[in-house]
Amino acid sequence: MLCGGCLFLLLLNVPDGFPSESQESDERPSVVPQPPPGTPARNVPGCPANCTCPAEETVDCGGLDLHLFPGNLSKSIQHLSLQNNRLQELPCNELSRLAHLKTLNLHNNHITSEGLPDEAFESLQALQYIYLANNQLSDAPQFLPSTLRIVDMAANRLTQLYQLTFGHKPGLRSVYLHNNQLSNIGLPFDAFNGSDAVSTLILSSNLLTYLPQNLPPAVVRLHLQNNRISRVPKGALNRHWRLRELYLQNNNLTNDGLDPSTFSKLKSLEYLDLSNNNLTEVPSGLPPNVVILHLGRNRLSALPPERLSRVRGLQYLLLQSNTLTASGVHPEAFARLRSLHTLHLYNNRLESVPPGLPRRVRSLMLLHNRIAHIGPHDFAATYALAELNLSYNRLYSAHIHRLAFRKLRRLETVDLSGNRLTLLPAGLPSSLQVLNLQKNQINSLSSELLANLTRLKELHLAHNRLRIGGISPGTWQELQGLKLLDLSYNELSYVPPDLPESLEHLYLQHNRIAVLTAEAFLTTPNIRVVALRSNRLLAANVSAEAFADLKQLEVVDTTGNPELIVVPLPQAGRWVRPQAGT
Ligand SMILES: *[C@@H]1O[C@H](CO)[C@@H](O)[C@H](O)[C@H]1NC(C)=O
Ligand SMILES: *[C@@H]1O[C@H](CO)[C@@H](O)[C@H](O)[C@H]1NC(C)=O
Ligand SMILES: *[C@@H]1O[C@H](CO)[C@@H](O)[C@H](O)[C@H]1NC(C)=O
Ligand SMILES: *[C@@H]1O[C@H](CO)[C@@H](O)[C@H](O)[C@H]1NC(C)=O
Ligand SMILES: *[C@@H]1O[C@H](CO)[C@@H](O)[C@H](O)[C@H]1NC(C)=O
Ligand SMILES: *[C@@H]1O[C@H](CO)[C@@H](O)[C@H](O)[C@H]1NC(C)=O
Ligand SMILES: *[C@@H]1O[C@H](CO)[C@@H](O)[C@H](O)[C@H]1NC(C)=O
Ligand SMILES: *[C@@H]1O[C@H](CO)[C@@H](O)[C@H](O)[C@H]1NC(C)=O
Repeated sequence: MLCGGCLFLLLLNVPDGFPSESQESDERPSVVPQPPPGTPARNVPGCPANCTCPAEETVDCGGLDLHLFPGNLSKSIQHLSLQNNRLQELPCNELSRLAHLKTLNLHNNHITSEGLPDEAFESLQALQYIYLANNQLSDAPQFLPSTLRIVDMAANRLTQLYQLTFGHKPGLRSVYLHNNQLSNIGLPFDAFNGSDAVSTLILSSNLLTYLPQNLPPAVVRLHLQNNRISRVPKGALNRHWRLRELYLQNNNLTNDGLDPSTFSKLKSLEYLDLSNNNLTEVPSGLPPNVVILHLGRNRLSALPPERLSRVRGLQYLLLQSNTLTASGVHPEAFARLRSLHTLHLYNNRLESVPPGLPRRVRSLMLLHNRIAHIGPHDFAATYALAELNLSYNRLYSAHIHRLAFRKLRRLETVDLSGNRLTLLPAGLPSSLQVLNLQKNQINSLSSELLANLTRLKELHLAHNRLRIGGISPGTWQELQGLKLLDLSYNELSYVPPDLPESLEHLYLQHNRIAVLTAEAFLTTPNIRVVALRSNRLLAANVSAEAFADLKQLEVVDTTGNPELIVVPLPQAGRWVRPQAGT
């Protein structure tokens, strides 16, 4: 709007409430200089009413519910904070006087484009930081000073930028424009001409349909997620060899919309997020230094040999929620990925463990597939594997080869929950610390299958079919490190005997336990938590001595039994009432 016009505008009809918060508030830079720690709260003379002015050049009027720009501000101020007020407009004559202003914080007001006088900025020739996020701007200012370093206009309603909004600002470093309504038409071709130092450009959550061309050449972080981008024009990223972080998730990219050279010049690129798009193939020409590649939630059905193995620096490869089959994974697909340690393949259509797994993989997520068997060689080369998640597949005990895990000497966590196992898998390595077998059909436990698991800390067996008779004597004897045993939702009629001395957490809820003898916890003096909820206990069948020597006992849950069971707890020298009936 014109400068003269803003002079006498009265502010009427201040709307209630505040604009919606930005979805990317974490990307907003921290705001405005604070007084040095220890500075006493004092106001220099001439400070506007209710504001704080810790120094001559700093005026803070944040959060005062102001409807009007404070009048008579000293001409010499450098930092002005007006965030969290109800300003609708900035009077041109007041603003343009502040020729020394370096920081102007107007975050979270009700400022419209009509209320923001372009001309005022012409005299602000020292302005470096302007924060206008969470206002009601529909057009960006036509002109902003060339001295700017950071501009935040996130969470407005911007549809249009101009040549001199962000162009011709040699010192400009960071531009935040997420949560606006920018389409490609609103972004002029020369929007960043002469602003070659911009390194952070945030354009997520707008209405872009293709990746804007002529982006500033030095950009390091480029966020374009949550748009409608379906293509990247050829050459659009050719000059951007400094780019390290490119977010393109939640768009509409297809392989047709990408050129083989789209990413190939991005030699500094470390983080590329292409998840939740419409890709049917891994894009070609991925640059070699990518560390994290996110291709989840696309329509990939196969992994050919060449596309990925050129990305030599890859450490995290995320391929979940595609339609990959094991036969579609070429045995050489992961070859030469010597740094790859985390591979997510969950929620695909794998019918078996894919071939040629990366040799250094430490964390392998194969859950929610259709894997029905594990052969002796599936994990024969993945020596470094520490975490293996095979939950929610279609595994039967008979289809897991007894030597399947023999090479995995560093395995620490195995999750086989939600399968169709009737037995514990054989040959688990002694390095194992967590074994999750819940929601299977396991009906027997024996010492042979748990032998050597001396480092096991957690054993999860909830939701199986275990009865006391199915647990062989000696089952627990080698589990000298076991701290947590979950046997809930089984068919146990009493507490299994000879549990390991190391045990601290014992979950037995939802069984058929009808009696607690004096010896029930004889071998587990360190127990802290015992869950006995929803069993068949009557007070008369619970021996008073069962808990007597458990000095560490903190929680006993006996709710949901036919009678109220009261267990005294020895804690911190006093006896605490247990959790009583529901
Ligand atoms: C300062 O705060 C007081 C108390 O909240 C209020 O009554 C007064 O109107 C305020 N003054 C200005 C100039 O905002
Ligand atoms: C600004 O200062 C002048 C002179 O001291 C005074 O007349 C005027 O009322 C002040 N205006 C505001 C908005 O405080
Ligand atoms: C902006 O920069 C591009 C690329 O350097 C150039 O083609 C174009 O002519 C420039 N536009 C203006 C107005 O300077
Ligand atoms: C995605 O792009 C396709 C064309 O490639 C188009 O038909 C479709 O409507 C787009 N979807 C969205 C949500 O923009
Ligand atoms: C994916 O792309 C196809 C064309 O290749 C298009 O028909 C389809 O609508 C797109 N899917 C979405 C979710 O936009
Ligand atoms: C396996 O993955 C599921 C789903 O993400 C998760 O809940 C579970 O904790 C994982 N298992 C282990 C042992 O980390
Ligand atoms: C336990 O370890 C010993 C010695 O390493 C080995 O001979 C034996 O086969 C292992 N038992 C099981 C069940 O893996
Ligand atoms: C539980 O106690 C009742 C009453 O003392 C007794 O009749 C019953 O046999 C006991 N049940 C078990 C399983 O010990």
